[in-house]
Amino acid sequence: MKNQLEQAVREALGKIQHPVYKESLLDIGAFDRIDEDDESFSVHLKSPDADRKQQIAFEAQIRGFLTKINPGKKVKIRFAVDESLKPQEQGNRIKGVKNVIAIGSGKGGVGKSTAAANLAAALKLKGLKVGLIDSDIYGPSIGKMFGVPSKLPLTGDGSNKILPHEVQGIKLMSFAFMLAADQAVVWRGPMLGKAVEQFLYEVIWGDLDVLLIDLPPGTGDVQLSLAQLIDVDGAVIVTTPQNVALQDAARAASMFQQVKIPILGIIENMSEFQCPNCGHITNIFSKNGGSAMAAKMGVPQLGSIPVEKEIMDSGEAGLPITLKDPSGKVAEAYKKIADRILVEVEKFK
Ligand SMILES: Nc1ncnc2c1ncn2[C@@H]1O[C@H](COP(=O)(O)OP(=O)(O)O)[C@@H](O)[C@H]1O
Ligand SMILES: [Mg+2]
Repeated sequence: MKNQLEQAVREALGKIQHPVYKESLLDIGAFDRIDEDDESFSVHLKSPDADRKQQIAFEAQIRGFLTKINPGKKVKIRFAVDESLKPQEQGNRIKGVKNVIAIGSGKGGVGKSTAAANLAAALKLKGLKVGLIDSDIYGPSIGKMFGVPSKLPLTGDGSNKILPHEVQGIKLMSFAFMLAADQAVVWRGPMLGKAVEQFLYEVIWGDLDVLLIDLPPGTGDVQLSLAQLIDVDGAVIVTTPQNVALQDAARAASMFQQVKIPILGIIENMSEFQCPNCGHITNIFSKNGGSAMAAKMGVPQLGSIPVEKEIMDSGEAGLPITLKDPSGKVAEAYKKIADRILVEVEKFK
């Protein structure tokens, strides 16, 4: 009977949200033990503060849940204050998420989302727990790149939170998952900020080593909302090597600097094209722009990715090339970039 009671108490605690700490009583560690004597069960709970009114309210809620079982004896509920239950001051961190890394670019079409998808894949191949947020409201594409049919079936845990889609162990979240495929949206500033906040805090991410955020191109509202809502541990900038793209990338870099997000480095995408027939290498978008820019800014050049039809094809087919061909050249390049990012991000901790 005691076990059954304990299970029921735990279940109840799991459903009661602490109004201040925004977590369930179970999650903050309120359960201590149940003692039993001839006449009664004593349920010992821990409370982060001595607020007696609060405790009475909790007790009432718990008893509400316990009416479902009949323990056969009187049930007493006792609270003991335990300060250590108070959540640590975490700033704007998502609980359980170790590193938040934003992927940005100055303009669209440079392959930022492709890079984000392949980086997520490379980190996953290394055995890390990875999440990926597509925050590009105007052109969400991560879902498509992972072959996820657009709308998210809102499976929650009963607490109004959303479970992300999971593809090959990578947790995915996108604005697109909240909309029907052809539904157009006009997000305005405040609504946009709210949506980003939901993305970050109302999704059940679980424990993650890295949460990547694919930002929309440019330096607009979403980037700023993000910077205000969450401690981003670092940003990676994707650029193509030609001058125009580099100028935009420099602007993105300066935005990250303004909001005090460390720049972990630059990925030069579409750096060269090797003819599959004759092997000749063409630098379609000129050469080494990414490394020149990295040098100028004093940040690492994380790696270069060539133009390859396969990269584009696998994105279209719904499986990033790093997952499709995990030991191929491109996957190896992304794994190296992933390693480098993990080293760089530690430097700013
Ligand atoms: N290295 C590459 N080689 C070939 N095609 C690429 C490469 N990187 C990106 N692409 C393709 O370029 C297009 C734009 O890429 P995308 O990642 O959507 O850019 P962004 O997110 O910067 O707008 C996509 O069709 C994508 O498949
Ligand atoms: Mg994109």
